[in-house]
Amino acid sequence: MAEKTLVIIKPDAVYRGFSGKIINRFEEVGFSIAAMKFQKVSEKQAVEHYKEHEGRDYYKRLMNFLLSGPVIVMVLEGPDVITRIRKMTGKTIATERESGTVRGDYSVNNLYNLIHSSDSSESSAREISIFFKPEEILEYETATKKYWFF
Ligand code: CDP
Ligand code: MG
Repeated sequence: MAEKTLVIIKPDAVYRGFSGKIINRFEEVGFSIAAMKFQKVSEKQAVEHYKEHEGRDYYKRLMNFLLSGPVIVMVLEGPDVITRIRKMTGKTIATERESGTVRGDYSVNNLYNLIHSSDSSESSAREISIFFKPEEILEYETATKKYWFF
């Protein structure tokens, strides 16, 4: 079964002009885009999305950052897409990031880390519903889907 995950291309990536190359990485692997929007995150969405971080020392900075400019929110679909996109994202802590990951290649600190990706199927279902209505998630054929399974 193909899974879905939520990716947010955060304001630093949009400002730095990295949106296209980040999306391209995901497309090249063979994942498909099920939904995508260019928008400013509302305060309500930000609070809901990062609710587990409330009270942390970086929480205020994180909120200000996410609300500081436009983002691209997208739903990606494919086999094991949650785990695969987390690996392609790279680690939260800058010193643990590996080259070849989005954060490892383009980000030097813990906060300004270019993208968000869901960390589990529970998170992905919850996070997708913050940003998308069910009818905004599209079902369609792509050339890569036939290579998803045997
Ligand atoms: O984004 P990820 O799931 O890897 O990390 P998280 O632990 O869910 O934290 C959410 C976001 O908070 C991170 O992506 C960072 O932007 C920020 N953060 C931070 O600034 N400093 C930390 N020590 C941890 C997280
Ligand atoms: Mg997280």
